[in-house]
Amino acid sequence: MNQKKLWGGRFSGSTDALMEAFSQSVSFDWRLYRQDIRGSIAHARMLQATGVLSEQDFADIEAGLKNIQSEIENDKFDWSEALEDVHMNIEAVLTERIGDAGKRLHTGRSRNDQIATDMRLFLRDGLDAVCQALTELQLTLVVLAKQQAAVIMPGYTHMQSAQPVTLGHHLLAWNEMLQRDYERLTDCRKRINVSPLGAAALAGTSYPIDREMTAKELGFDRIAVNSLDAVSDRDFIIEFNAHAALMMVHLSRIAEELVLWSSEGFGYVDMGDAFCTGSSIMPQKKNPDVAELTRGKCGRVNGNLMALLMLMKSQPLAYNRDNQEDKEPMFDSLDTSIMCLEVFAAMFAQVKFNQEAMYRAAARGYSTATDLADYLVRKGVPFRDAHEVVGKVVGLAASDRIELEQVPLSQLQRFSDVIDSDVYEVLTLEGSVNARNHIGGTAPEQVKIAAEKAERLLAARAE
Ligand code: ARG
Repeated sequence: MNQKKLWGGRFSGSTDALMEAFSQSVSFDWRLYRQDIRGSIAHARMLQATGVLSEQDFADIEAGLKNIQSEIENDKFDWSEALEDVHMNIEAVLTERIGDAGKRLHTGRSRNDQIATDMRLFLRDGLDAVCQALTELQLTLVVLAKQQAAVIMPGYTHMQSAQPVTLGHHLLAWNEMLQRDYERLTDCRKRINVSPLGAAALAGTSYPIDREMTAKELGFDRIAVNSLDAVSDRDFIIEFNAHAALMMVHLSRIAEELVLWSSEGFGYVDMGDAFCTGSSIMPQKKNPDVAELTRGKCGRVNGNLMALLMLMKSQPLAYNRDNQEDKEPMFDSLDTSIMCLEVFAAMFAQVKFNQEAMYRAAARGYSTATDLADYLVRKGVPFRDAHEVVGKVVGLAASDRIELEQVPLSQLQRFSDVIDSDVYEVLTLEGSVNARNHIGGTAPEQVKIAAEKAERLLAARAE
């Protein structure tokens, strides 16, 4: 509390302890130290190049900051809440050690462009990590899809058995959702990777600065062209979080299916001991915790999005302290997304599908009824009439408690005289899926082609 504030010049009284606790961000923004130090070195190097800092000052600053970084990484750095945030903690220690050169570092800069720079650098790396984990999960899914291309399971609408599909097709549908997430995430990277440095507090600076130079050193694609916007814009975090929220919604949909598929009633999947837990009271239980937790974590990432949107709502230009509240949601959405993607990929590598259970379920519920209607249409019956005929056949089979392919030919012919013995080919599950042999269809042949194509795209991306 008695530590000297870097902004203390105009103050005569000291900060209230409650205020210090309320105002500090170092307990969470310390995570930005690497980006903060990198940004400071780039800024100082630029100041030296434009003649604002001497060579000696720059050398001392660079060495001092590198020392501090290694201390932080070795857990030897003392963070102080009285010094508020990551920026002032680092600057205060630097100045303590190198004297006036440390005090000159902040020339032509403000914490406002400094924090915007740190957040962009951090999110850029974080986003790349999300994309990498996403790619791994997608690869796991498409490899599985190739293996499971011909495995038959029920396809659902309204959660009612509708038509048979192949498991590979279902897995590739999940991959499509994640593919769109990947495209959205990589697109928003363009708007993250922009340098605010040089905007200073809000209006720019009167020192001769070279914004292109710092942008280049920090790997930014371009510089923010309006200083007011540069220090106040947090769209890039909101955008990232929106895409992460939707990606988590997709993971929650997959999770929900895994929860259902691993339940007694379905028995389609065994999630592997390494990714399940038991019950402390019911010895028979093996719970799909990864799926359930992911379903739950989808809530927090979507909550973070709402927090960020509301944080920005009605904020006047330019920087406002409100923006300190952007950190925890961003960190949490990054951490949560990466963890869920990684654990999903690891879990899918161990999942065992129960092909017999899936096949049995597909065989129940008259899932080839549409194929019978299509058969009648091919023989000249108008579709609506065919629909009616098949409805009656299903009614009969249901009252006799048999499947469609068990209805004798003589009975079928009572409903329509175009029906022949070849009808049984279309009533089988294999006949049904094989018939849907076009791009985007569920036929094993198509699934294999689609999975191989997706795998090639992913392999090229991973390079
Ligand atoms: N901790 C602050 C934040 O996260 C850093 C910028 C503070 N700027 C200021 N003018 N108080 O936004």
